[in-house]
Amino acid sequence: MLKDKYGNAISVQSQVALDHYDRGVQLFLGANYGAVEAFQAAVDVDDSFTLGFAALARAFMMAGHMPDAQTAIATAQDLAAKLDSRQRQHVECFALLLAGNPQGTRALVKQHVEEFPRDVLTAQLNASVYGLIGFSGHVGREAELLAYTGSLMPHCGDDWWMMSMHALSLCETGQIDRSNELMAKSLAINPRNANGAHFKSHAQYEGGETVAGRSYLKSWLVDYDDRSLLHGHLSWHAALWALQDGDIDAMWHVIDNGIGPSSSKGLPLVTLTDTAAILYRAKLAGVSVDPKRWSVLSDYAAKFFPETGQSFADIHAALSHAMAGNGDRLAYIADTAKGFAGDLVKPVARAWREIANENWAVALEELTIVMGQTERFGGSRAQRDILELTYANVLLKLGHSKEAHRYLSTHRTILAKSPPLAGFV
Ligand SMILES: [Fe+2]
Repeated sequence: MLKDKYGNAISVQSQVALDHYDRGVQLFLGANYGAVEAFQAAVDVDDSFTLGFAALARAFMMAGHMPDAQTAIATAQDLAAKLDSRQRQHVECFALLLAGNPQGTRALVKQHVEEFPRDVLTAQLNASVYGLIGFSGHVGREAELLAYTGSLMPHCGDDWWMMSMHALSLCETGQIDRSNELMAKSLAINPRNANGAHFKSHAQYEGGETVAGRSYLKSWLVDYDDRSLLHGHLSWHAALWALQDGDIDAMWHVIDNGIGPSSSKGLPLVTLTDTAAILYRAKLAGVSVDPKRWSVLSDYAAKFFPETGQSFADIHAALSHAMAGNGDRLAYIADTAKGFAGDLVKPVARAWREIANENWAVALEELTIVMGQTERFGGSRAQRDILELTYANVLLKLGHSKEAHRYLSTHRTILAKSPPLAGFV
């Protein structure tokens, strides 16, 4: 029986099909464009290649092609009955996810990797900040992610993808030096791993290395296909640093050529959250934001997230609706928010409404409900800084500048040194 690159026995009829599969796995794990094409090539060579179809389903999913993903996973399920337990369970993990059961998938993946820790495509489902642990909505999910990737390291610690995932977990629990050390090893093996470049950038953000971070990302992005998974989000990091650096023209250029709805080729979740975040952080820093930008984003949010449930998207959709003056859309989120952190989305949505109306005292009351639990929204610490900065800004508007300073100093030291907030002294 043939084995994949990670040593897992795999049911496939030809080495050519397996070579396409292994190439697809490497592209997928590195968030590089071409995984769909590679997995498609694998199943074109061997139309009974079950895990090829499962991988194709996952790649379609991350490319935003859900009907194609459903077709591919249905084929994998039809083919899976005669396979061994690892491969059957591998397919079941993806099928559960595509059936809309993230809780069940998270649990099954944890169980699966205990027995098959080098089944990396399955392991990947629970990893990273946008994975199933990242979006669990659980208190303590950053520590849970660290424990998860830490449990895989003894089995896959020689692999660049695994190193980058554990470095990410270290970064998000404040272990920046250890994260940098491990990420350097990962990037030395595969410098084109976008997940590695991404969380190297996060470590630089956490370290306040604006100039070095801008320079690194600028050169790294030159050779990164704009159809790749992380192109929009890495552009967001670049725009954030441009804002921090006072290079506002560069910030708008990046927004209009990689982040916003008119230019991004990424997933709607990323386009919505990153655009809303950079626009509002620009506003907080004192940059004038054309109201049309908020209107366009509000329409985009209403189109792609008409229902609540993805809490990280919901807080950014609510922000967009509030800034665009679309009260009905905002009220719908504030009234109906559900999902993994729906209970916290409601006060945030109400806070955006009060902020838009400059009712700062009420906004402070609403935000106070959530500030101790923002981890539950998912996303990275850098992304959730929008809430930290908003809270500090509301304190400033109420004349509590010392409290604003004390808050950032105790909660986000990196922001306290030179916060990108207009009027902060
Ligand atoms: Fe990021």
